[in-house]
Amino acid sequence: MFPPAAPRHLVQFNPKKALHAFTDVLVLGGGIAGLRAALAVSPGQRVVVISKEKVEISNSAWAQGGIAGVLSPEDSFQDHVNDTLIAGDGLCDEAVVKMVVEEAPHQISDLIQMGVQFDHHNGHLALTTEGGHRHARIVHALGDATGHEVMRGMIARARSAPNIEIKERTFTLDLLTHESRCVGVLVATSRGERLAIWAKATILASGGAARIYRETTNSSVATGDGMAAAYRAGALLRDMEFMQFHPTLLYVAGSSRSLISEALRGEGAFLRDKDGTRFMVGEDPREERATRDIVARAIMRAMARTRHSCVYLDLSHLNSEKVRSRFPAIGRACAEFGLDLTKDLIPVRPGAHYTIGGVNTDLQGRTSLAGLYAAGEVSSTGLHGANRLASNSLIEGLVFGKICGDAAGWEAANQPDTFQVPPISDEARRETGPELDLQDILNSLRSLMGRTAGIERDGTEMAESLEQLRFWCSYVLRREFNQQDGWELSNLLTISSLMLGSAKVREESRGTHFRRDFPKRDDFHWRKRVTCKPGGNICANA
Ligand code: SIN
Repeated sequence: MFPPAAPRHLVQFNPKKALHAFTDVLVLGGGIAGLRAALAVSPGQRVVVISKEKVEISNSAWAQGGIAGVLSPEDSFQDHVNDTLIAGDGLCDEAVVKMVVEEAPHQISDLIQMGVQFDHHNGHLALTTEGGHRHARIVHALGDATGHEVMRGMIARARSAPNIEIKERTFTLDLLTHESRCVGVLVATSRGERLAIWAKATILASGGAARIYRETTNSSVATGDGMAAAYRAGALLRDMEFMQFHPTLLYVAGSSRSLISEALRGEGAFLRDKDGTRFMVGEDPREERATRDIVARAIMRAMARTRHSCVYLDLSHLNSEKVRSRFPAIGRACAEFGLDLTKDLIPVRPGAHYTIGGVNTDLQGRTSLAGLYAAGEVSSTGLHGANRLASNSLIEGLVFGKICGDAAGWEAANQPDTFQVPPISDEARRETGPELDLQDILNSLRSLMGRTAGIERDGTEMAESLEQLRFWCSYVLRREFNQQDGWELSNLLTISSLMLGSAKVREESRGTHFRRDFPKRDDFHWRKRVTCKPGGNICANA
C-alpha cells in the first residue's frame, strides 16, 4: 500500500471549533486555471479563490514560452492534434486533444479581450515554435515573460469582479467530504486560524508537485497540496509516473535553477556538449526541436559521455539584436552571472518541470468525487498522454478552467440555498514523538526522488526507494503539524509515494518514463493508464 495508512485529514478537525464561511463556488488555486474558472462563473454567484501565496506567485506567472493555438493559415487543427499525439507517445485521450486544440484560439482571443498584450510582428500576433511543433503557433508576451503578462491581465480582471473574493496566503489543508461528496475545504488562514469554507461546488486548480525534486523550474508553491488532499478525500489519481523534465535549466552554482525557455531552441539555438559537438544532430530528425523527453535524455547521455555536469546552449550564430529583444528576461538572468546570451555558451541541464499526472477528470472536468472538479496541472485530463507538448499547459489551464467554472456554476445553481454544516469531524489521535528535523527529511526525499524517479529509472532501485519512503511515511504521516513546512512535507511524501509506486508498476518506457530495465515502448501490454485508487491500490487499467 502506498503510502502506508495515514489519518484522513492532515490535522484534527471539529466544525464546532472552526470558523465558517459559505460560498457557491470554491476555487483552490490562483494560477491560470483557477482564475479562468473563477471568471467563468456567472457574476450572480459568489466565488472564493484560495491562493497559498500572494496570487501573483504561481507557476503560471513564471511561464516563459507561451500559449499554443492554431492562428495562422499555414497551420491546421489536425496538425496541432497530431503534434500533441506524437509528443504524448500513444497515451493521449484523442477526444480531449481535439477539444482543447479547437477551443485554443477562442481562449487566446478571450485573453486579448481581458487586456492581455501579446507580442506582435508586422501588425499580427507574433507566433513562434518550440520542440515538437511543426508550425509556428505559440503566442508570447514581453518576449519571454508570457506568464507574467497573462496573469497580470487575469488578476486585474478577477480583482475587479464584485462576486470574486481572493483569499491570499491561505493554505489548503484538506477537502471536506460528506456522504461521498466534496462539500468544501479546511484551510489555515494567513492569521493561523482554521477556517471551514463550505461550497456547493469546488474546483481544484492548485498546480503540480515538481518541488519533490531538488533541480526544478517550479516556484516554491508547487508542493502537490491539492493532489494530496484529493487523494486523501478519495479521488482517483492517474498517470503519476509521468513527470516532465525540462531540458534546459540554467546551471550555475549558486543560482536558482531558472528556466531557459524552449523558445530559444524554437528560434534556432543549438545544444553543444563540453567538446562543442551538436549532439542532437543524429539523435532525432528534429534535432534541437525534438520533444522534451527526447532532448532531456540525449542531454543526460551527452553529460555522461563527456563526464561533465552540464551541456551548453549556443545562440552566437543568431542575430544578436533579435535575441536581445526576444529574450530580455533570460538575457538579464544570464547577465547576473556575467554571461552574454548573444555570445557566450550558456550552461544548462534538465530539471523537473511539469507534473503530467494528477486528479483524474472527464471532458467536463469532473473528478471521481462528486462536487469536485479539477483543472490545470493538478489534473490528469488525458491531453498530455505520456509527455506534454511544449506550450500546451497554459492552454489546457484556460480551456479546462473555463469548462470547470461553467460546470461548477451550473451545479451550484442547482443545489439548495439552505446549507446545514454536516456532522463531520476528525478527532483521531495523532502520534507524538521527538521533534523531527523536517528540512533533513525533505532534503533526503529530494535526493532519493532525483536518483530513482528521475529521467532514467530502474525496478530494483525503485523497490528499494519505496521501502525507504514507506519508512519515512510511517512516522511523518501519522503526526500532526502546526506549520506549513510539516503539511507540505506530508503532501510531498504522499505524492512521491504515488509517483514512485506508479513508475514501478509501468514496466515499459514511454514518453517521460524511461526504464533502464524495460527500455522499449510496449503497446501490447501498456497502452493503458496507471491509476492510484483510494486506500493505496496502484494498478494499470485497460
Ligand atoms: C518553456 O518556455 O520552455 C516552457 C514552456 C512550457 O512548459 O510549455
